[in-house]
Parts: sequence; C-alpha cells; structure tokens
Amino acid sequence: MNITNDIKYVGVNDHEIDLFESQYVVENGMAYNSYVIMDKKIAVLDSVDTHFTHEWLDNIQKATDRKAPDYLIVQHMEPDHSANIVNFMKLYPDAKVVASAKAFAMMEQFYGSDYADRQIIIKEGDTLSLGQHELSFVAAPMVHWPEVMMTYDAHDKVLFSADAFGKFGALDVEEDWACEARRYYFGIVGKYGTQVQNLLKKAAKLDIQTICPLHGPVLAENLGYYLNLYNIWSSYGIETEGIVIAYTSVYGNTKKAVELLADKLRAKGCPKVVVNDLARCDMAEAVEDAFRYGKLVLATTTYNADIFPFMKEFIDHLTERNFQNRKIGIIENGSWAPMAAKVIRKMLEGCKNITFTNTTVSIKSALNEDSSAQLEAMAEELCKDYLAQKDETANKNDMTALFKIGYGLYVVTSNDGTKDNGLIVNTVSQVTDNPNRVAVCINKANYSHHIIKQTGIMNVNCLSTEAPFSVFQNFGFQSGRTADKFADFETLRSDNGLVFLPRYINAFMSLKVEQYVDFDTHGMFICTVTEARVISDVDTMTYNYYQSNVKPKPETEGKKGFVCKVCGYIYEGDVLPDDFICPLCKHGAADFEPIG
Ligand code: FEO
Repeated sequence: MNITNDIKYVGVNDHEIDLFESQYVVENGMAYNSYVIMDKKIAVLDSVDTHFTHEWLDNIQKATDRKAPDYLIVQHMEPDHSANIVNFMKLYPDAKVVASAKAFAMMEQFYGSDYADRQIIIKEGDTLSLGQHELSFVAAPMVHWPEVMMTYDAHDKVLFSADAFGKFGALDVEEDWACEARRYYFGIVGKYGTQVQNLLKKAAKLDIQTICPLHGPVLAENLGYYLNLYNIWSSYGIETEGIVIAYTSVYGNTKKAVELLADKLRAKGCPKVVVNDLARCDMAEAVEDAFRYGKLVLATTTYNADIFPFMKEFIDHLTERNFQNRKIGIIENGSWAPMAAKVIRKMLEGCKNITFTNTTVSIKSALNEDSSAQLEAMAEELCKDYLAQKDETANKNDMTALFKIGYGLYVVTSNDGTKDNGLIVNTVSQVTDNPNRVAVCINKANYSHHIIKQTGIMNVNCLSTEAPFSVFQNFGFQSGRTADKFADFETLRSDNGLVFLPRYINAFMSLKVEQYVDFDTHGMFICTVTEARVISDVDTMTYNYYQSNVKPKPETEGKKGFVCKVCGYIYEGDVLPDDFICPLCKHGAADFEPIG
C-alpha cells in the first residue's frame, strides 16, 4: 500500500491475538504498522510483533524491490513494535538503527545489544536526510513510554506518530475509528494527558497532511476531527453529553435501583444514558465511557467492609488515569452497615475537580420508600441542566439566575445574522432589581460590541468553575470575525434565538438593550432581562478562581522578560514595547508583569 509516492506501508494484521498487551479484548484483531520511505537512502520505521517476522521482512523486500534499507528508525520500544529489530539487523548488516538514548538502553535490556557500532542516537529537533526527505524528530515522552520519538517528514508532510492516534483493530476490518481509538487511548495512554497536550502543541507547529500511527489506519483526511478528539481526551474534557451508570449487583437489588434511575434520567431529558454492569462488561469499555461523558453514577454493594471487587477495580482504573472534571453520584447498598459511599469518596479524594451530587442513595438490602425518594432526588439533580436547557421543561422566569452574577467571568453570546458569536467578559453587574436590569460593558474593539450595538440583544452565560482553559482560549483569544467559535458546540437556543452554552455554565440571562452609554474605548449596554435560566448549582467562575485554578502556570523558570497575566504568554526580552499586544489573548502591555 502506498501512502505517498515514496512512503509505503509494510505493517501486518494480527487476527490470532487473544488479548492485546495481555489485557485488552480485540475482537477485530490488531495492526502493527511499519513504514518504508524510499529515497536515495531507504528508511524503515519500526518493526512489528514477534509473530510476524517473515511477513514483515517479505513486505519490506517487496516495497524496496529487494534493495537493502539504510536505516531502521525505532520510535517506540514496546515489543509489539520492537520485537523484530534483531532479525532486521541480522538481515541487513550495513543498516544503522536510529533511536533515542533511552530506546537504546531498552534495546540492550530486551534484546541484549544496543548496536553500539551501528547506532545513531537522536533527540528532539535532530534531523536525518534521506535525500529529498528530510526527517526531523519530535520527542514524545510517555506517549506511551519515556523513550518515544516521533518522526516528521517535511517533504511529504507526514507525521509518524508512534502509538498516538492509534486504535485497536486490524486494518482489513472496517469499523468506526473513534470508538476503538477512544478505548485504546484511555486504556493505554489515558494517564498521560499532560504529555499528550505537550505533543499536540508541538504538532500544531508542523504542517501535517497525513498521520501514520503504529496501530490503526493512516489518517489522511479531516485531520481536525482526530486532533480535536485528542485535545478533548487529553484535557479530560467532556466529549459527549450524557450520564454513565457503572454498577455491580450481587442479587439484583442494586441492579433494580440502577434500572429505575436510568429510566428517570431518560424521562428527565438526559440525552444519553449508558449502563455498564462491571462484572460482565468489557472493563476497558466502561473506563472509556467514564472519560467520554460528563457525569457518572457509581452503584455498588458494601463487601467485606469495603466495596465489591469489580467496582474497586473500576475506580482504580479511573484514578490511575487521572480521572477529573466530572460530576459523580453514588448509590450504595448494604444490609447491615452500608459504607460503600464513604469508601468511594475516599478512593476519589485525590481526583481534581470532582463534584458529588448532594444526594447519595443509600439502600438497605432492597429499595424502599426512602431510597426511592433519594433516587428521584438524585435524578432531578443530575438532570437539572438538561431540564433547564429544554424549552418544554425550563423555568424561563427563574430570577435566582441573577444571584449567579459575581465578579465573575461570562461568555456573552450574540449573532450577526449569519453566525453565532461569543466573547469572554468580566464586566457584568445587576444595576436594578425592579425591574431587573443588568449592565454589560464591552470593549469597542471587539466584534461582539459591533453586533450587539446593531441587534440590541445578547445572552450572558455565567461560567461555572467546571469551565476548562479551552473555553477561555476559544471565546477569549480569537475574534468572531474570523473564527467560528461554536464549531465544536452543540447549539442550544433561548427564546430570543441566540445560543447559550451547552455546558460549563450555571445560568444564563437573555438581555434586551434599553440604553447605551458611550465610554470612548468601551460601550455599556444597560439591559432588561427577557429570560433567565439556572442550569446548575456549581459555583460561578470568579476571576480569582480562573487565575488560581484554570489558567496554566506559565513556564517562566530560567526565562527573562514579561509574562501575560491573562493567558500566561511569555515575552522574552529586557524591555516590553508599550504598544505590545499579546499574540495569544490580544491584551496589551498593561496586562504583562516582569518575570521574577
Ligand atoms: Fe503499540 Fe506502546 O506500543
């Protein structure tokens, strides 16, 4: 198979494997990818699993027309890719092996030789010229092992991405990419979100047309789709709106409660309810679901003064993969001393940004009136946002929405007649209460000011503490004139026809402009409230909370210069020009402070 004129696929499909990495069920097998780049010099990228020596060597001979390769580039030393290094090096005695120093140390450990006289050690930024193809190497530690080096071919604009962007499944079986790529990602790389985020930042600087991973298909179209999913997964964001119930049940009573809760959630407008019986389902699938959806209910029995083993294993899988940013409800069952809720809370106490529902359902052996009422209360709480989002069930005159205004951060949404727009502001305040009037101040340089001046309407979305940094990047660091800020959002509309955010907000208000006050640089819109909905009880995102908990800490160590207080951008230099504008968030020199 040709990837480009010069790059050929020489990998293999494995349909014999029972469990990948001795733990993951792979119904549709597995592919171990390997590639050849044909140029003045010939390079092979990675070998394959130990069971496919001859098939792989045959593939190489066919692809190279029996010419001897000059290099074997070893991007990753896990044996599913490194098992045939020795066979390759024996067959091609003049070839050199190209890898990171850590990979050579592992080569010695696994195979008894690091090919000291035939090795080329590479590190981040090093290059290797094959002729026309100039390869550069990108360090990707912990994606998925510490020695990993990815390879970028600037000539064909191909990123060889090692395990990243891989999936379970052989290449001769047609199946959806995201499902098995997500299960693979959270099973294998899920712990290393920070490292994957670092990799995505490096990838953003490259002109990539094709991604060649070590598992799964070559990705050559719609790369934004895959990159966006990797960004969500590695930032522990919510990919799909919905609720997962993961449970164990010994005699069926906990299961009954779970089924009742699932029915209630569906009836209250939850867009997707996923139920996993942890003793019987594929554990990797249950883990994937927990990271995919925004809310999780854990239902289990007390067992040996602890919790049921499958639930314990499940929670361990979550915590070791840095589970975070989720809302969790607990259903416990115990006939004499129920304590599962206490154990679960303890197990999750190290997880970042986890909120528990106010209601915990405590069942004594079987559901009764009390525990049934608790189930109803939990369903109501978990679906509060869904109920408030839907026209049919929303309370559209809930003026307690106004109590969500603090010295907070808000997304002001508007529409220019062709496109929805949104802008981050911190200048919203209630100015009268009978009637309710709200003032919103917006910089005239912002496109939203222009739109609202013309249309006279806006929605103020009160961000909650669940909002991740990506929300600020999306709405705050780019202009709606050029960017489609709602491209990745499901669109929900209020009665004035404007969008409100489907997540990360605790309330929104629809405003109609009554008066405009010109402040030269800014304009103040004084508005009446035409609709107000409370979406959740999560705290409002204040400016302080954003600074302390959301904004990434800038890496200033060893640097001289100035750092942007809004987004963390670093300007290196002795003097910051007065007219300097932050290239990331577009704030001026006044928002910078010296490093140190
Ligand atoms: Fe596909 Fe980490 O090996």
